[in-house]
Amino acid sequence: MRRSIGSSISDLVHARVDGESLSQDELLTMLTQFLIAGNETTTTHITATVMLLLEQPQLMAQVRADLSLAPKLIEESLRVESPITGLYRTALVDTEIAGVAVPAGAHLLLCYSSGNRDPEQYADPETIKFDRSGEGAHLAFGQGPHFCLGSNLSKAESRIALEALLTRTTNLRLDPAGRTPERIPSYILRGVSRLDLLFDRA
Ligand code: HEM
Repeated sequence: MRRSIGSSISDLVHARVDGESLSQDELLTMLTQFLIAGNETTTTHITATVMLLLEQPQLMAQVRADLSLAPKLIEESLRVESPITGLYRTALVDTEIAGVAVPAGAHLLLCYSSGNRDPEQYADPETIKFDRSGEGAHLAFGQGPHFCLGSNLSKAESRIALEALLTRTTNLRLDPAGRTPERIPSYILRGVSRLDLLFDRA
């Protein structure tokens, strides 16, 4: 079968750039990128969305009653939870941002999570709302030339997971005998590392 898009580990191993194979270092860097960019982010986001629903049962009831709200919930949980809190950039030239001098060569942490809760961009930024159509697009997938290549795939995965969870289970709740959800010890990835749940079959 011919694949039109996408790549696999074999594709990378057999790839040639100017007639040369990729070095082991290049392969390992790309595979690490696949694992973190393509898996960890979305897994973390799905978990964060479920946490939000558990903390705000009225949201869970609303989306369960109207699954067409799922994509909106996903956009809002991407905004509020920002699975990638921020990433680094290096200033190429001397510049100024909001009155702060930034010399060439300075390393900057672009904090998407902060921008995503900017009260000048979002009314009542801490609150999940389904009608933010007049407000700015969130920054959870970055912005500009490096905007996340997997954003649509990730949103589809989160929507499918959410729909399955809400249609195939009822009485979704934290397992009182389970571990207390623990935050991932990272300032780049935001989320919980484990969520012990109980539910009944719908
Ligand atoms: C909730 C899930 C995800 C979040 C929050 C997320 C976030 C981001 C962010 C913030 C960037 C920008 C990096 C930068 O500006 O340097 C990025 C880039 C990227 N993402 Fe994602 N991502 C997610 C899911 C995915 C998935 C599922 C894939 C692949 C299957 C993916 C592949 C990539 C790639 C390849 C880039 C680099 C793009 C480039 O440098 O041109 N991401 N992502």
